[in-house]
Amino acid sequence: MSLLTSDISYPAEQQAYAERVKRIVCADGRIPKAQVVTYGCQQNVSDSQRLKGMLSLMGYEITENQEEADFIIFNTCAVREHAEDRVFGNVGATKKLKKENKNLLVAVCGCMAQQQSVADRFKESYPYVDIVFGTQVFHRLPEFIYKRLNSGRRVFELEIKNEKIVEGLPVDREDRFKGYIPIMYGCDNFCTYCIVPYVRGRERSRSAEVILKEAKQMVDSGYKEIMLLGQNVNSYGKGSSDGINFAKLLRRVNDIEGDFRIRFMTSHPKDCTEELLEAMRDCEKVERHLHLPFQSGNNRVLNSMNRRYTREKYLSLINSAREKMPDIAFTSDIIVGFPGETYEEFKDTLSLVNEVEFASLFTFIYSPRGGTPAAILPDPISRKEKGIWFDELLKAQDRIAKKLNNKAVGQVVRVLIEEAAPADGYLIGKSSGTLNIYVKGDESLIGTFKNVKIDSYSNVLYGTIIE
Ligand code: SAH
Ligand code: SF4
Ligand code: F3S
Repeated sequence: MSLLTSDISYPAEQQAYAERVKRIVCADGRIPKAQVVTYGCQQNVSDSQRLKGMLSLMGYEITENQEEADFIIFNTCAVREHAEDRVFGNVGATKKLKKENKNLLVAVCGCMAQQQSVADRFKESYPYVDIVFGTQVFHRLPEFIYKRLNSGRRVFELEIKNEKIVEGLPVDREDRFKGYIPIMYGCDNFCTYCIVPYVRGRERSRSAEVILKEAKQMVDSGYKEIMLLGQNVNSYGKGSSDGINFAKLLRRVNDIEGDFRIRFMTSHPKDCTEELLEAMRDCEKVERHLHLPFQSGNNRVLNSMNRRYTREKYLSLINSAREKMPDIAFTSDIIVGFPGETYEEFKDTLSLVNEVEFASLFTFIYSPRGGTPAAILPDPISRKEKGIWFDELLKAQDRIAKKLNNKAVGQVVRVLIEEAAPADGYLIGKSSGTLNIYVKGDESLIGTFKNVKIDSYSNVLYGTIIE
Protein backbone atom coordinates (compact mmCIF):
# COMPACT_ATOMS: atom_id res chain seq x y z
CA MET A 1 0.00 0.00 0.00
CA SER A 2 1.28 3.44 -0.86
CA LEU A 3 0.19 6.63 0.74
CA LEU A 4 1.47 10.12 1.26
CA THR A 5 2.72 10.78 4.77
CA SER A 6 0.96 14.12 4.99
CA ASP A 7 -0.73 16.54 2.74
CA ILE A 8 2.42 18.62 2.52
CA SER A 9 3.35 17.38 -0.89
CA TYR A 10 6.52 15.72 -2.06
CA PRO A 11 8.62 18.36 -3.91
CA ALA A 12 7.17 19.08 -7.35
CA GLU A 13 10.63 18.80 -8.87
CA GLN A 14 11.00 15.19 -7.68
CA GLN A 15 7.47 14.35 -8.78
CA ALA A 16 8.38 15.61 -12.24
CA TYR A 17 11.53 13.45 -12.28
CA ALA A 18 9.42 10.48 -11.16
CA GLU A 19 7.04 11.03 -14.09
CA ARG A 20 9.94 11.16 -16.53
CA VAL A 21 11.50 7.98 -15.14
CA LYS A 22 8.12 6.28 -15.39
CA ARG A 23 7.82 7.19 -19.04
CA ILE A 24 11.20 5.61 -19.74
CA VAL A 25 11.04 2.45 -17.61
CA CYS A 26 7.39 1.68 -18.30
CA ALA A 27 7.65 2.14 -22.08
CA ASP A 28 5.42 -0.24 -24.10
CA GLY A 29 3.33 -1.02 -21.02
CA ARG A 30 6.15 -2.87 -19.29
CA ILE A 31 6.05 -3.17 -15.49
CA PRO A 32 9.63 -2.90 -14.26
CA LYS A 33 10.61 -4.54 -10.97
CA ALA A 34 12.70 -3.14 -8.13
CA GLN A 35 14.33 -4.78 -5.14
CA VAL A 36 15.21 -2.87 -1.96
CA VAL A 37 17.79 -4.63 0.23
CA THR A 38 17.94 -3.21 3.75
CA TYR A 39 20.65 -3.50 6.43
CA GLY A 40 20.85 -1.97 9.88
CA CYS A 41 18.37 -0.44 12.29
CA GLN A 42 14.66 0.42 12.16
CA GLN A 43 15.58 3.85 10.90
CA ASN A 44 16.88 2.20 7.75
CA VAL A 45 13.85 -0.06 7.49
CA SER A 46 11.70 3.04 7.69
CA ASP A 47 13.81 4.84 5.05
CA SER A 48 13.50 1.78 2.81
CA GLN A 49 9.71 2.02 3.05
CA ARG A 50 10.02 5.52 1.64
CA LEU A 51 12.42 4.33 -1.07
CA LYS A 52 9.77 1.75 -2.01
CA GLY A 53 7.12 4.47 -2.00
CA MET A 54 9.19 6.56 -4.45
CA LEU A 55 9.88 3.51 -6.63
CA SER A 56 6.15 2.79 -6.81
CA LEU A 57 5.59 6.38 -7.87
CA MET A 58 8.04 5.76 -10.73
CA GLY A 59 6.02 2.76 -11.88
CA TYR A 60 8.20 0.01 -10.36
CA GLU A 61 6.70 -3.05 -8.76
CA ILE A 62 8.56 -4.17 -5.64
CA THR A 63 10.05 -7.67 -5.74
CA GLU A 64 12.03 -9.84 -3.35
CA ASN A 65 13.46 -11.83 -6.24
CA GLN A 66 16.79 -10.31 -7.25
CA GLU A 67 16.97 -12.28 -10.49
CA GLU A 68 13.94 -10.54 -11.97
CA ALA A 69 14.81 -7.01 -10.77
CA ASP A 70 15.47 -4.11 -13.16
CA PHE A 71 16.58 -1.90 -10.28
CA ILE A 72 18.37 -3.05 -7.11
CA ILE A 73 19.11 -0.69 -4.26
CA PHE A 74 21.16 -1.53 -1.17
CA ASN A 75 20.26 0.62 1.85
CA THR A 76 23.30 0.10 4.01
CA CYS A 77 24.50 0.29 7.63
CA ALA A 78 27.94 1.33 8.88
CA VAL A 79 27.62 0.69 12.59
CA ARG A 80 29.93 -2.33 12.69
CA GLU A 81 32.52 -3.71 10.31
CA HIS A 82 30.71 -6.99 9.78
CA ALA A 83 27.68 -5.17 8.31
CA GLU A 84 29.93 -3.42 5.79
CA ASP A 85 31.68 -6.59 4.65
CA ARG A 86 28.33 -8.17 3.82
CA VAL A 87 27.34 -5.20 1.67
CA PHE A 88 30.52 -5.31 -0.44
CA GLY A 89 29.93 -9.02 -1.00
CA ASN A 90 26.28 -8.64 -1.96
CA VAL A 91 26.82 -5.63 -4.21
CA GLY A 92 29.64 -7.58 -5.91
CA ALA A 93 27.18 -10.35 -6.75
CA THR A 94 25.15 -8.00 -8.98
CA LYS A 95 27.99 -7.89 -11.52
CA LYS A 96 26.84 -11.24 -12.87
CA LEU A 97 23.19 -10.16 -12.98
CA LYS A 98 24.15 -7.11 -15.00
CA LYS A 99 25.68 -9.31 -17.66
CA GLU A 100 22.35 -11.10 -18.04
CA ASN A 101 20.15 -8.00 -17.85
CA LYS A 102 21.63 -5.05 -19.73
CA ASN A 103 18.96 -2.69 -18.36
CA LEU A 104 19.62 -3.49 -14.72
CA LEU A 105 20.50 -0.49 -12.54
CA VAL A 106 22.32 -0.91 -9.21
CA ALA A 107 22.29 1.71 -6.44
CA VAL A 108 23.85 1.92 -2.98
CA CYS A 109 22.62 4.36 -0.32
CA GLY A 110 22.43 4.72 3.46
CA CYS A 111 24.94 5.14 6.25
CA MET A 112 27.79 3.17 4.72
CA ALA A 113 27.52 4.90 1.35
CA GLN A 114 27.64 8.26 3.12
CA GLN A 115 31.33 7.71 3.96
CA GLN A 116 33.55 9.25 1.30
CA SER A 117 36.02 6.35 1.45
CA VAL A 118 33.23 3.86 0.76
CA ALA A 119 31.73 5.93 -2.06
CA ASP A 120 35.21 6.19 -3.60
CA ARG A 121 35.65 2.44 -3.39
CA PHE A 122 32.36 1.92 -5.25
CA LYS A 123 33.42 4.50 -7.81
CA GLU A 124 36.78 2.92 -8.49
CA SER A 125 36.35 -0.80 -7.94
CA TYR A 126 32.64 -1.42 -8.66
CA PRO A 127 32.07 0.08 -12.14
CA TYR A 128 28.70 -1.70 -12.41
CA VAL A 129 27.29 0.35 -9.50
CA ASP A 130 25.28 3.13 -11.18
CA ILE A 131 24.16 5.34 -8.31
CA VAL A 132 25.61 6.04 -4.85
CA PHE A 133 23.96 8.53 -2.50
CA GLY A 134 23.98 9.52 1.16
CA THR A 135 21.49 9.68 4.01
CA GLN A 136 20.31 13.26 3.67
CA VAL A 137 19.40 13.23 -0.03
CA PHE A 138 17.41 10.02 -0.25
CA HIS A 139 14.22 11.91 -1.17
CA ARG A 140 15.96 12.69 -4.49
CA LEU A 141 15.91 9.08 -5.73
CA PRO A 142 13.74 9.92 -8.80
CA GLU A 143 16.23 12.61 -9.84
CA PHE A 144 19.18 10.23 -9.48
CA ILE A 145 17.55 7.49 -11.53
CA TYR A 146 16.51 9.97 -14.20
CA LYS A 147 20.01 11.44 -14.44
CA ARG A 148 21.54 8.00 -14.75
CA LEU A 149 19.10 6.95 -17.46
CA ASN A 150 19.26 10.21 -19.34
CA SER A 151 22.95 11.09 -19.22
CA GLY A 152 24.42 7.62 -19.09
CA ARG A 153 26.80 8.93 -16.44
CA ARG A 154 27.08 7.38 -12.98
CA VAL A 155 25.62 9.43 -10.11
CA PHE A 156 27.46 10.11 -6.81
CA GLU A 157 25.79 12.44 -4.30
CA LEU A 158 26.85 12.62 -0.64
CA GLU A 159 25.71 16.11 0.27
CA ILE A 160 25.14 16.70 4.02
CA LYS A 161 23.56 20.09 4.63
CA ASN A 162 21.57 19.35 7.80
CA GLU A 163 18.64 21.24 6.35
CA LYS A 164 14.96 20.91 7.14
CA ILE A 165 13.55 17.44 6.56
CA VAL A 166 11.77 17.04 3.26
CA GLU A 167 8.18 16.00 3.94
CA GLY A 168 5.45 14.32 1.96
CA LEU A 169 7.45 11.33 0.72
CA PRO A 170 5.31 8.46 -0.48
CA VAL A 171 5.67 5.44 1.79
CA ASP A 172 5.05 1.75 1.29
CA ARG A 173 4.54 0.46 4.82
CA GLU A 174 4.32 -3.22 3.88
CA ASP A 175 2.79 -4.24 7.19
CA ARG A 176 -0.88 -3.48 7.48
CA PHE A 177 -1.18 -3.08 11.27
CA LYS A 178 2.31 -2.15 12.57
CA GLY A 179 4.13 0.89 11.30
CA TYR A 180 7.05 3.22 11.90
CA ILE A 181 6.99 6.97 12.18
CA PRO A 182 10.43 8.60 12.16
CA ILE A 183 10.21 11.61 14.46
CA MET A 184 13.81 12.77 14.17
CA TYR A 185 16.90 12.08 12.10
CA GLY A 186 20.59 12.29 12.94
CA CYS A 187 22.45 12.33 16.23
CA ASP A 188 24.45 14.97 18.12
CA ASN A 189 25.80 12.76 20.87
CA PHE A 190 29.11 11.63 19.44
CA CYS A 191 29.61 8.57 21.61
CA THR A 192 33.30 7.91 20.95
CA TYR A 193 32.79 4.48 19.33
CA CYS A 194 29.92 5.44 17.06
CA ILE A 195 29.80 6.37 13.38
CA VAL A 196 26.14 7.43 13.31
CA PRO A 197 26.63 11.18 13.99
CA TYR A 198 29.08 11.32 11.06
CA VAL A 199 26.93 9.48 8.56
CA ARG A 200 23.50 10.76 9.56
CA GLY A 201 24.43 14.35 10.37
CA ARG A 202 22.92 16.66 12.95
CA GLU A 203 19.73 16.02 14.90
CA ARG A 204 16.69 17.28 13.02
CA SER A 205 13.18 16.80 14.35
CA ARG A 206 10.06 16.58 12.23
CA SER A 207 7.29 18.96 13.21
CA ALA A 208 4.79 17.64 15.75
CA GLU A 209 1.99 18.63 13.42
CA VAL A 210 3.26 16.39 10.62
CA ILE A 211 3.91 13.48 13.00
CA LEU A 212 0.44 13.71 14.53
CA LYS A 213 -1.18 13.88 11.12
CA GLU A 214 0.72 10.80 10.00
CA ALA A 215 -0.18 8.94 13.21
CA LYS A 216 -3.86 9.81 12.86
CA GLN A 217 -3.86 8.72 9.25
CA MET A 218 -2.36 5.37 10.26
CA VAL A 219 -4.82 4.81 13.10
CA ASP A 220 -7.73 5.72 10.82
CA SER A 221 -6.57 3.16 8.30
CA GLY A 222 -6.41 0.38 10.89
CA TYR A 223 -2.87 0.43 12.30
CA LYS A 224 -2.67 -1.12 15.79
CA GLU A 225 0.91 -0.28 16.67
CA ILE A 226 2.92 2.81 15.93
CA MET A 227 6.65 2.89 16.62
CA LEU A 228 8.15 6.36 16.97
CA LEU A 229 11.72 6.28 15.71
CA GLY A 230 14.90 8.24 16.27
CA GLN A 231 18.51 7.69 17.31
CA ASN A 232 17.71 9.54 20.49
CA VAL A 233 13.98 10.21 20.72
CA ASN A 234 14.46 11.87 24.11
CA SER A 235 16.06 14.87 22.50
CA TYR A 236 13.13 15.26 20.09
CA GLY A 237 12.13 18.88 19.52
CA LYS A 238 15.31 20.49 20.85
CA GLY A 239 15.45 24.00 19.50
CA SER A 240 11.96 23.85 17.96
CA SER A 241 9.68 26.84 18.31
CA ASP A 242 6.51 24.99 19.34
CA GLY A 243 7.98 23.81 22.68
CA ILE A 244 6.88 20.20 22.13
CA ASN A 245 9.46 17.84 23.59
CA PHE A 246 9.27 14.05 23.43
CA ALA A 247 7.18 13.66 26.61
CA LYS A 248 4.63 16.12 25.25
CA LEU A 249 4.66 14.47 21.84
CA LEU A 250 3.90 11.10 23.45
CA ARG A 251 0.90 12.60 25.24
CA ARG A 252 -0.39 14.06 21.98
CA VAL A 253 -0.06 10.80 20.07
CA ASN A 254 -1.75 9.07 22.99
CA ASP A 255 -4.67 11.49 22.66
CA ILE A 256 -5.45 10.28 19.14
CA GLU A 257 -8.70 8.34 19.34
CA GLY A 258 -8.60 4.65 18.55
CA ASP A 259 -7.47 1.25 19.82
CA PHE A 260 -3.75 1.20 19.16
CA ARG A 261 -0.38 1.02 20.91
CA ILE A 262 2.64 3.29 20.89
CA ARG A 263 6.25 2.14 21.09
CA PHE A 264 9.41 4.17 20.72
CA MET A 265 13.12 3.63 20.00
CA THR A 266 15.77 4.62 21.13
CA SER A 267 16.10 6.49 24.41
CA HIS A 268 19.41 7.85 25.61
CA PRO A 269 19.76 7.66 29.41
CA LYS A 270 21.30 11.13 29.63
CA ASP A 271 18.09 12.66 28.24
CA CYS A 272 15.60 10.32 29.91
CA THR A 273 13.67 12.60 32.27
CA GLU A 274 11.10 12.20 35.03
CA GLU A 275 8.76 14.09 32.73
CA LEU A 276 9.12 11.33 30.14
CA LEU A 277 8.60 8.51 32.66
CA GLU A 278 5.50 10.30 33.95
CA ALA A 279 4.17 10.65 30.43
CA MET A 280 4.73 6.91 29.88
CA ARG A 281 2.89 6.12 33.11
CA ASP A 282 -0.03 8.40 32.26
CA CYS A 283 -0.47 7.31 28.64
CA GLU A 284 -2.49 4.10 28.48
CA LYS A 285 -1.52 3.47 24.85
CA VAL A 286 2.23 3.66 25.48
CA GLU A 287 3.58 0.18 25.95
CA ARG A 288 5.21 -0.93 29.16
CA HIS A 289 8.60 -1.28 27.54
CA LEU A 290 11.65 0.95 27.70
CA HIS A 291 14.67 0.31 25.51
CA LEU A 292 17.39 2.15 27.38
CA PRO A 293 20.90 1.29 26.14
CA PHE A 294 23.52 1.53 28.89
CA GLN A 295 26.53 0.18 26.89
CA SER A 296 28.71 -0.37 29.98
CA GLY A 297 28.20 -0.69 33.74
CA ASN A 298 31.53 0.91 34.58
CA ASN A 299 31.90 4.65 35.10
CA ARG A 300 35.40 4.94 33.69
CA VAL A 301 34.34 3.16 30.50
CA LEU A 302 31.14 5.20 30.26
CA ASN A 303 33.21 8.35 30.51
CA SER A 304 35.61 7.15 27.85
CA MET A 305 32.60 6.38 25.65
CA ASN A 306 31.32 9.96 26.19
CA ARG A 307 27.94 8.65 27.32
CA ARG A 308 27.47 11.45 29.87
CA TYR A 309 25.74 9.48 32.64
CA THR A 310 26.96 7.21 35.40
CA ARG A 311 26.01 3.71 36.48
CA GLU A 312 24.29 5.27 39.49
CA LYS A 313 22.25 7.66 37.33
CA TYR A 314 21.24 4.78 35.08
CA LEU A 315 20.11 2.62 37.98
CA SER A 316 18.15 5.48 39.49
CA LEU A 317 16.28 5.87 36.18
CA ILE A 318 15.44 2.17 36.18
CA ASN A 319 14.20 2.36 39.76
CA SER A 320 12.14 5.43 39.09
CA ALA A 321 10.52 3.81 36.04
CA ARG A 322 9.75 0.66 38.06
CA GLU A 323 8.17 2.69 40.85
CA LYS A 324 5.86 4.34 38.36
CA MET A 325 5.19 1.25 36.23
CA PRO A 326 5.80 -1.94 38.23
CA ASP A 327 5.17 -4.15 35.19
CA ILE A 328 7.59 -2.34 32.85
CA ALA A 329 10.06 -4.40 30.79
CA PHE A 330 13.54 -3.10 30.01
CA THR A 331 15.83 -3.90 27.12
CA SER A 332 19.28 -2.53 26.41
CA ASP A 333 22.32 -2.40 24.15
CA ILE A 334 25.77 -3.34 25.45
CA ILE A 335 29.25 -3.09 23.99
CA VAL A 336 31.79 -5.66 25.19
CA GLY A 337 35.52 -4.97 24.87
CA PHE A 338 35.56 -1.20 24.38
CA PRO A 339 39.23 -0.13 23.94
CA GLY A 340 40.99 -0.26 27.29
CA GLU A 341 38.17 -2.07 29.08
CA THR A 342 39.52 -4.56 31.64
CA TYR A 343 37.87 -7.75 32.83
CA GLU A 344 37.18 -6.09 36.18
CA GLU A 345 35.38 -3.29 34.38
CA PHE A 346 33.44 -5.76 32.25
CA LYS A 347 32.29 -7.39 35.48
CA ASP A 348 30.52 -4.12 36.33
CA THR A 349 28.49 -4.59 33.14
CA LEU A 350 27.67 -8.12 34.20
CA SER A 351 26.59 -7.02 37.67
CA LEU A 352 24.35 -4.31 36.22
CA VAL A 353 22.71 -6.89 33.97
CA ASN A 354 22.08 -9.12 36.97
CA GLU A 355 20.74 -6.24 39.01
CA VAL A 356 18.29 -4.82 36.46
CA GLU A 357 17.13 -8.13 34.92
CA PHE A 358 16.50 -7.00 31.35
CA ALA A 359 13.89 -8.81 29.28
CA SER A 360 16.39 -9.01 26.45
CA LEU A 361 19.70 -7.53 25.35
CA PHE A 362 21.37 -6.50 22.13
CA THR A 363 25.03 -7.27 22.76
CA PHE A 364 27.93 -6.32 20.52
CA ILE A 365 31.67 -6.83 20.56
CA TYR A 366 33.35 -3.47 19.99
CA SER A 367 34.10 -2.81 16.32
CA PRO A 368 36.52 0.04 15.49
CA ARG A 369 35.04 2.64 13.12
CA GLY A 370 37.47 4.80 11.18
CA GLY A 371 37.25 8.48 12.07
CA THR A 372 35.76 7.95 15.53
CA PRO A 373 37.83 8.91 18.62
CA ALA A 374 37.74 5.38 20.09
CA ALA A 375 39.31 3.88 16.97
CA ILE A 376 42.70 5.33 17.92
CA LEU A 377 42.62 4.29 21.59
CA PRO A 378 44.94 1.46 22.67
CA ASP A 379 43.01 -1.82 22.55
CA PRO A 380 45.18 -4.51 24.12
CA ILE A 381 42.53 -7.20 24.76
CA SER A 382 42.37 -9.82 22.02
CA ARG A 383 39.22 -10.58 20.06
CA LYS A 384 39.30 -14.10 21.48
CA GLU A 385 39.36 -12.80 25.06
CA LYS A 386 36.47 -10.42 24.30
CA GLY A 387 34.58 -13.39 22.90
CA ILE A 388 34.92 -15.19 26.25
CA TRP A 389 33.53 -12.18 28.13
CA PHE A 390 30.76 -11.91 25.58
CA ASP A 391 29.72 -15.54 26.13
CA GLU A 392 29.68 -14.96 29.87
CA LEU A 393 27.28 -12.09 29.32
CA LEU A 394 25.03 -14.18 27.07
CA LYS A 395 24.90 -16.94 29.64
CA ALA A 396 23.88 -14.51 32.38
CA GLN A 397 21.17 -13.04 30.17
CA ASP A 398 19.90 -16.46 29.21
CA ARG A 399 19.38 -17.33 32.87
CA ILE A 400 17.58 -14.03 33.50
CA ALA A 401 15.31 -14.42 30.46
CA LYS A 402 14.32 -17.92 31.62
CA LYS A 403 13.58 -16.60 35.09
CA LEU A 404 11.41 -13.75 33.76
CA ASN A 405 9.55 -16.09 31.41
CA ASN A 406 8.83 -18.55 34.23
CA LYS A 407 7.57 -15.67 36.35
CA ALA A 408 5.15 -14.69 33.57
CA VAL A 409 3.33 -18.05 33.71
CA GLY A 410 -0.15 -17.61 35.20
CA GLN A 411 -0.47 -13.96 34.15
CA VAL A 412 -3.23 -12.64 31.93
CA VAL A 413 -1.92 -10.15 29.38
CA ARG A 414 -3.32 -8.24 26.43
CA VAL A 415 -1.48 -9.16 23.26
CA LEU A 416 -1.43 -7.97 19.70
CA ILE A 417 -1.54 -11.07 17.52
CA GLU A 418 1.35 -10.41 15.15
CA GLU A 419 2.01 -13.44 12.98
CA ALA A 420 1.64 -17.15 12.41
CA ALA A 421 4.23 -19.14 14.38
CA PRO A 422 6.50 -21.62 12.62
CA ALA A 423 4.76 -24.33 14.68
CA ASP A 424 1.52 -25.60 13.17
CA GLY A 425 -1.67 -23.85 14.20
CA TYR A 426 0.03 -21.39 16.53
CA LEU A 427 0.03 -17.62 16.35
CA ILE A 428 2.43 -15.27 18.13
CA GLY A 429 0.99 -12.55 20.32
CA LYS A 430 3.09 -9.74 21.75
CA SER A 431 2.39 -8.26 25.18
CA SER A 432 2.57 -4.58 25.99
CA GLY A 433 6.03 -5.32 27.37
CA THR A 434 8.27 -7.70 25.44
CA LEU A 435 6.69 -11.13 25.95
CA ASN A 436 6.00 -13.24 22.87
CA ILE A 437 3.26 -15.77 23.55
CA TYR A 438 2.28 -18.72 21.35
CA VAL A 439 -1.47 -19.21 21.20
CA LYS A 440 -3.72 -21.51 19.16
CA GLY A 441 -5.96 -19.68 16.76
CA ASP A 442 -6.97 -18.89 13.25
CA GLU A 443 -4.80 -16.64 11.10
CA SER A 444 -7.73 -14.25 10.72
CA LEU A 445 -6.87 -13.07 14.25
CA ILE A 446 -3.57 -11.56 13.07
CA GLY A 447 -3.65 -7.82 13.66
CA THR A 448 -6.16 -7.95 16.54
CA PHE A 449 -5.82 -7.50 20.30
CA LYS A 450 -6.69 -10.44 22.56
CA ASN A 451 -6.47 -11.24 26.24
CA VAL A 452 -4.30 -14.25 26.81
CA LYS A 453 -3.64 -16.41 29.87
CA ILE A 454 -0.04 -17.60 29.94
CA ASP A 455 -0.11 -21.36 30.62
CA SER A 456 3.44 -22.63 30.42
CA TYR A 457 7.02 -22.01 29.42
CA SER A 458 9.34 -24.35 27.58
CA ASN A 459 11.68 -22.51 25.21
CA VAL A 460 8.73 -20.26 24.37
CA LEU A 461 5.69 -19.10 26.30
CA TYR A 462 2.38 -20.82 25.55
CA GLY A 463 -0.99 -19.31 26.35
CA THR A 464 -4.72 -19.49 25.70
CA ILE A 465 -6.89 -16.78 24.27
CA ILE A 466 -9.57 -16.00 26.83
CA GLU A 467 -11.47 -13.35 24.89
N1 SAH B 1 21.24 5.68 19.11
C1 SAH B 1 21.21 4.42 19.72
C2 SAH B 1 22.13 3.39 19.16
C3 SAH B 1 22.26 3.18 17.72
S1 SAH B 1 23.47 2.03 17.24
C4 SAH B 1 21.56 4.63 21.18
O1 SAH B 1 22.39 5.45 21.51
O2 SAH B 1 21.05 3.88 21.97
C5 SAH B 1 22.91 0.58 18.06
C6 SAH B 1 23.90 -0.02 18.98
O3 SAH B 1 25.03 -0.46 18.26
C7 SAH B 1 24.48 0.89 20.04
O4 SAH B 1 23.62 1.07 21.12
C8 SAH B 1 25.74 0.18 20.43
O5 SAH B 1 25.49 -0.76 21.45
C9 SAH B 1 26.11 -0.55 19.15
N2 SAH B 1 27.30 0.05 18.53
C10 SAH B 1 27.41 1.28 17.99
N3 SAH B 1 28.67 1.48 17.53
C11 SAH B 1 29.35 0.34 17.77
C12 SAH B 1 30.69 -0.08 17.55
N4 SAH B 1 31.58 0.72 16.98
N5 SAH B 1 31.03 -1.34 17.93
C13 SAH B 1 30.13 -2.16 18.50
N6 SAH B 1 28.88 -1.82 18.74
C14 SAH B 1 28.47 -0.57 18.39
FE1 SF4 C 1 25.64 6.50 18.31
FE2 SF4 C 1 25.63 7.49 20.74
FE3 SF4 C 1 24.23 8.68 18.82
FE4 SF4 C 1 23.44 6.35 19.76
S1 SF4 C 1 23.54 8.26 20.92
S2 SF4 C 1 23.57 6.95 17.63
S3 SF4 C 1 25.35 5.32 20.20
S4 SF4 C 1 26.43 8.52 18.94
FE1 F3S D 1 23.34 1.42 10.92
FE2 F3S D 1 22.83 3.84 10.12
FE3 F3S D 1 21.11 2.59 11.65
S1 F3S D 1 24.79 3.09 10.77
S2 F3S D 1 22.39 1.25 12.87
S3 F3S D 1 21.65 2.00 9.64
S4 F3S D 1 21.54 4.77 11.64
